[in-house]
Amino acid sequence: MPPAEERPLVIAVDGPAAAGKGTLARRLAAHYGLRHLDTGLLYRAVALRLLRQKGEPGQAEAAAAQARAVTDADLADPALRDEAVGEAASALAVHGAVREALLDYQRAFAARPPGAVLDGRDIGTVVCPDAQVKIYLEASVAVRAARRLCELRSRGVESIESRVLDEIKARDARDSRRSAAPLKPAADACRIDTTALGPDEVFERAAAIVDARLPSP
Ligand code: CDP
Repeated sequence: MPPAEERPLVIAVDGPAAAGKGTLARRLAAHYGLRHLDTGLLYRAVALRLLRQKGEPGQAEAAAAQARAVTDADLADPALRDEAVGEAASALAVHGAVREALLDYQRAFAARPPGAVLDGRDIGTVVCPDAQVKIYLEASVAVRAARRLCELRSRGVESIESRVLDEIKARDARDSRRSAAPLKPAADACRIDTTALGPDEVFERAAAIVDARLPSP
């Protein structure tokens, strides 16, 4: 592997559902001139393909076949944001064969110059263990549920707070208990608790972490 300073810059942003990964990852990508991949969209794309074929998220081999067939075009489908698709994505993300099938896409994305910000659950631990910067966002479950509720309402989706809270808890349990690439901070990740922070403060803290890792000009 080339020395760190010659490799494209890769920033891994991991954490549980609704911790603010997408907002932070987009801002970091814009600020440092990097491309951005929301890896949750890949799992959603697999789910959407599977549901359209009348498949079930519990069918590991059928889901893995759809994972091997995912293309860039799948990631632009507006139906990816549907709640049912997110639910199926969370359920099929437990299958090792699905995760394995999505690795090449994610690694190829990260390796293309000038580099990339990838947000997900296992970027710093499994997908890009050599990422120069690893950030792990966390926040209380109540705050994450409140953020998810706001996001849903801003898209015109009416939801009940208690239901959103239960769904976030179920996602947390599934993400952290699965044996294939469970959600956990990489040993060398910088953790930011966003419970009491707004998007600007999270960005400032993360940018300070990235700046400290960049080679001095
Ligand atoms: O709605 P939520 O924030 O949970 O999801 P998302 O980021 O759009 O991703 C959909 C689902 O894919 C998540 O609930 C995770 O279970 C799974 N996922 C994963 O296992 N690994 C990733 N790198 C990204 C998402």
